[in-house]
Amino acid sequence: MRQGLFNLKASQYAASIIGTGSYVPDTVISNSYLEEIVDTSDKWIVSRTGIKERRKVLDEIATSDIATKAAIQALNDANLDPIELDMIIVATVTPDMAFPSTACLVQKSIGAINATAFDIEAACSGFIYCLSIAEQFIKSGSANNILVIGAEVLSKITDYKDRNTCILFGDGAGAAIVSKSKGYQILSTYLGSDGNGCDLLYLPAGGSRNPASIETINKSMHYIKMEGSEVFKFAVRIMETATEKALELCNLNKSDIDYLIPHQANIRIIENAMKRLDLTEDKVFVNVDKYGNMSAASIAVALDETNKMKRLSNGDNVVLVAFGGGLTWASSVIRWL
Ligand code: UT7
Repeated sequence: MRQGLFNLKASQYAASIIGTGSYVPDTVISNSYLEEIVDTSDKWIVSRTGIKERRKVLDEIATSDIATKAAIQALNDANLDPIELDMIIVATVTPDMAFPSTACLVQKSIGAINATAFDIEAACSGFIYCLSIAEQFIKSGSANNILVIGAEVLSKITDYKDRNTCILFGDGAGAAIVSKSKGYQILSTYLGSDGNGCDLLYLPAGGSRNPASIETINKSMHYIKMEGSEVFKFAVRIMETATEKALELCNLNKSDIDYLIPHQANIRIIENAMKRLDLTEDKVFVNVDKYGNMSAASIAVALDETNKMKRLSNGDNVVLVAFGGGLTWASSVIRWL
């Protein structure tokens, strides 16, 4: 019998991550392949971004397909039945379609018949936005188990004629179960946005401003547009500020960070954050070399890979921090248990 999201007794609970999962497609797009299709070089890409390869789905695969694979892994890791889920939140800028939400499509595929499902869009910060929403529902006692997913098929909105962007993006999905049960405890989440930067990173067509037409297609308006160096400047500033804010919210400071999981957009942005936060290399997660920038899936996949590495110890403070189109930014402190 469906419990109803708002029928549970309101009280304060801790929100914890009790399972994680991820999926990246098998097809690899190497720098040498990109050298063949645009005017670029492996040397330029590696030195400016740290990316060596990224993944791409087959033509018939959509975001909900890979989101479902990550979700099933997270449910197995948490030892949870899909019918125990109260909510599914998917962060994506590449939904299967405008509606229904990708979350509803995942709900159908996994048979989560008791869940409320919806998408949120905060570009690369999206997964931490999901975590924050889930944290509030768990803490208020309004939900017991929430599936959060960051999933993207960016290869379908990437212009492989534009060397400024096509070298950066890849496909993937990551998921986590946020629960009232004991697990990695979410100590804080911090979110921010600045719509004044809306034209630095965007997809012009396919919405109500520029509906799909022959003209929008001819002008390549269904592909990502980006002012790379402006986004870069914003990113290096906000990674430090957002990290400090999330730490402040749980009375910690820079020296309390045991491990940093930054948005995987560019190794130079990650190294800059590392320096500003006085962190050594061994305390910072990096997989941008393997997958490029997977937007909302970036932190989600990184969190799962960190979990699977089994390198962290009980009581470690792990910081997640991301930035993205909107502009948006987000951070979270998680206590590993
Ligand atoms: O999740 C958020 C998503 N976005 C980001 O995180 C993007 C953040 N920005 C970046 O990562 C970097 O700005 C980029 C990697 C996009 C670009 O690196 P950059 O060091 O900022 O280069 P630039 O845009 O200032 O361009 C420098 C030069 C230009 O040539 P000229 O004008 O100096 O002759 C570009 O045309 O590099 C050229 N260039 C390339 N050359 C070879 C740009 N892309 C390429 C390329 N291969 N792929």
